[in-house]
Amino acid sequence: MTPLISVALSFIVCLAAAARGEPSASLGRRAVPKGFVTTRGAEFELDGSPFAFVGANSYWLPLLTSTEDVESTMREMHSAGVKVLRTWGFNAINASELAGAIESNLTYYQIWNNSDWTLNDGPQGLQRLDNVLEVASKYDIRVILAFSNNWVGYGGLELYIEHITPGASFHDVFYTNPQIQASYQRYVKTIVNRYKSSPTIFAWEMMNEARCLGDLPASAACSPGSGTLGRFYKDQSDFVRSLDPHHLITTGGEGHFYWKNPLFASDYNFNGQAGEDFDYDLTLPNIDFATYHMYPQTWYPQLDFPGSNFTVEGWGLFWMDAHANAAKKAAKPLVLEEFGVNGLDNKTTIYPSWIQLALDTKHGGVMPWQFGMLGLTEDGGNRLIKYADALIDGASPNDGFAIYKNQTVWNIFV
Ligand SMILES: *[C@@H]1O[C@H](CO)[C@@H](O)[C@H](O)[C@H]1NC(C)=O
Ligand SMILES: *[C@@H]1O[C@H](CO)[C@@H](O)[C@H](O)[C@H]1NC(C)=O
Ligand SMILES: *[C@@H]1O[C@H](CO)[C@@H](O)[C@H](O)[C@H]1NC(C)=O
Ligand SMILES: *[C@@H]1O[C@H](CO)[C@@H](O)[C@H](O)[C@H]1NC(C)=O
Ligand SMILES: *[C@@H]1O[C@H](CO)[C@@H](O)[C@H](O)[C@H]1NC(C)=O
Ligand SMILES: *[C@@H]1O[C@H](CO)[C@@H](O)[C@H](O)[C@H]1NC(C)=O
Repeated sequence: MTPLISVALSFIVCLAAAARGEPSASLGRRAVPKGFVTTRGAEFELDGSPFAFVGANSYWLPLLTSTEDVESTMREMHSAGVKVLRTWGFNAINASELAGAIESNLTYYQIWNNSDWTLNDGPQGLQRLDNVLEVASKYDIRVILAFSNNWVGYGGLELYIEHITPGASFHDVFYTNPQIQASYQRYVKTIVNRYKSSPTIFAWEMMNEARCLGDLPASAACSPGSGTLGRFYKDQSDFVRSLDPHHLITTGGEGHFYWKNPLFASDYNFNGQAGEDFDYDLTLPNIDFATYHMYPQTWYPQLDFPGSNFTVEGWGLFWMDAHANAAKKAAKPLVLEEFGVNGLDNKTTIYPSWIQLALDTKHGGVMPWQFGMLGLTEDGGNRLIKYADALIDGASPNDGFAIYKNQTVWNIFV
């Protein structure tokens, strides 16, 4: 991957120059009710004024059982300057997990049994999400809600696959099987109808990090150029638009490119193998803005080591520029909706230059992964949420990327 990148960089610089011409799409604006965020060309707009934001990722907020903790977290986000929160609009368990979930006061919205799921809209279910949205509204924070997860965490695609097509060997059956699509749409419809009149929803997101592969591998059919994910995004964004004329819709994708450039033939982020085609997906009429993610240390373990041509910071700047150019060409807003590096020193030295580039390239939003909260009261601060994401001494879960108020890098939110 790395040897090709320096060549690629000059290629990108040329593209950037070419893209500085007129944006190809029209600068139209969709009329929405007061208080709803919309887009105008490559900018977000709220009640006629440009709207840009620093946001927070917090998948764990709807999992809290203390409404007081939800309130204090949202108050902290507000005082840090957070205007948009991204969280999961899904949370599924299976029938054999139900007894344990009830006993431990776990949040769950869907219970899978045999080939179908039932909804939990009770106090341990969607009422917790209702509460998160209500409190968000009180603190003038808008919410991006994802409908499902490419990964198994909190009940993603693999639960649909296991229950509807048991024994299936490939992850991408999710995107093509009509019964799975119908089941996903039944859930999407439930969520959209529940909140579609609320200006607190910033946007609907089709999927967190959709790829051809997940915990199961990709089949040969979900190959670069197959358009599998593009068709999924098209069908599902059209479906959501048919239910809800006003809210913004986006993919939730990581921003993989399909550049068809031999220089990138072996680079997963650029060769289309992941399934995404960032440029194509942005041309879809009901994909209103672009999202991408950034974890260079995980993706390229050789960065920052002797002989490498890129630092972690430098590769990030390259990735950001590539997305800024593509979004500019499509004349749609761009959100860096997840990013992270490990280590407090790394965060403190690298994040400022990434944020500066986001400002310089007029990103519509920047959302670090992930918001850290101190002083939570829940169960003495030691309740195991799920998948080993514990609250320790009142601190929200830390996967190595959390940013807490006791750290100078917290200024990123401010
Ligand atoms: C379960 O969670 C609810 C909030 O959703 C809370 O009011 C209740 O006290 C919790 N119950 C227990 C036993 O922790
Ligand atoms: C339900 O989930 C549990 C724990 O995550 C797992 O061990 C079990 O195999 C699942 N059962 C079914 C029927 O999917
Ligand atoms: C799951 O389905 C089986 C068979 O239909 C039924 O006996 C069982 O009660 C169901 N479990 C739950 C939790 O709904
Ligand atoms: C760095 O770039 C040089 C010159 O293009 C190349 O020969 C070398 O293999 C690259 N090193 C790494 C680790 O990618
Ligand atoms: C900081 O980044 C470097 C380069 O990726 C990595 O080797 C190092 O482990 C990171 N530091 C911490 C504490 O994670
Ligand atoms: C800040 O709080 C976190 C979470 O409790 C803790 O792990 C960390 O040591 C504290 N201090 C600093 C400087 O990060």
